[in-house]
Amino acid sequence: MIPPGGLLRRIFLTVAAVGVLFSIPLLFLFDVVKINWRSNMEVQASFGPQEGPRRLPAADAVRFDGPSVPKDGQLPANPVPADAISLQRGRQLFVTHCAVCHGADGKGNGPVAQQWKADAKRPADLTAARLANQSDGALYLTISQGFGIMPPLNENLNVRERWDVVNYARTLSK
Ligand code: HEC
Repeated sequence: MIPPGGLLRRIFLTVAAVGVLFSIPLLFLFDVVKINWRSNMEVQASFGPQEGPRRLPAADAVRFDGPSVPKDGQLPANPVPADAISLQRGRQLFVTHCAVCHGADGKGNGPVAQQWKADAKRPADLTAARLANQSDGALYLTISQGFGIMPPLNENLNVRERWDVVNYARTLSK
């Protein structure tokens, strides 16, 4: 017969021993003791959106090179020669993107501007001497960043297209 005091002790010791046995695996489960378990899928390089190595564009993708935003204080130089093709493209783009406000001849009397309040600022006369004397880069910036109440058109025209418009706009004052 076990004496009553001894029984309590036994129960206590058994519970303690079982408890310790149970907690040992928990040390591993909760990474208190870390073991590099063999795993497959979950160990691999992964990159969140906007993160990680940027993939190069496809070789035949449309090019968007050239200075879309110039370095501080510098006016970009015009990389597109004003040849017949550039002027033809520029004219078409001008009709689509500029003529609504500036008018087909660039005199600032486009159909949209005629709807504006009488005291609203008018679209600039692109044939004016003041603008004819501006550099290509300044005109390019006006198109890219907007000017006063004129909105920026950098989302409508890519870099090459903007230079084509610049080349064409130059011919308006001639
Ligand atoms: C939504 C109407 C609108 C469109 C579209 C628009 N412009 Fe303008 N533009 C204006 C207005 C208005 C001004 C005068 C802004 C001011 O003085 O506050 C202006 C001013 C200008 C100026 C004069 C900037 C200066 O230095 O005084 C140039 C150059 C110009 N626009 C070129 C263009 C070209 C090129 C396009 C087409 C790619 C174009 N704009 C499209 C409304 C427009």
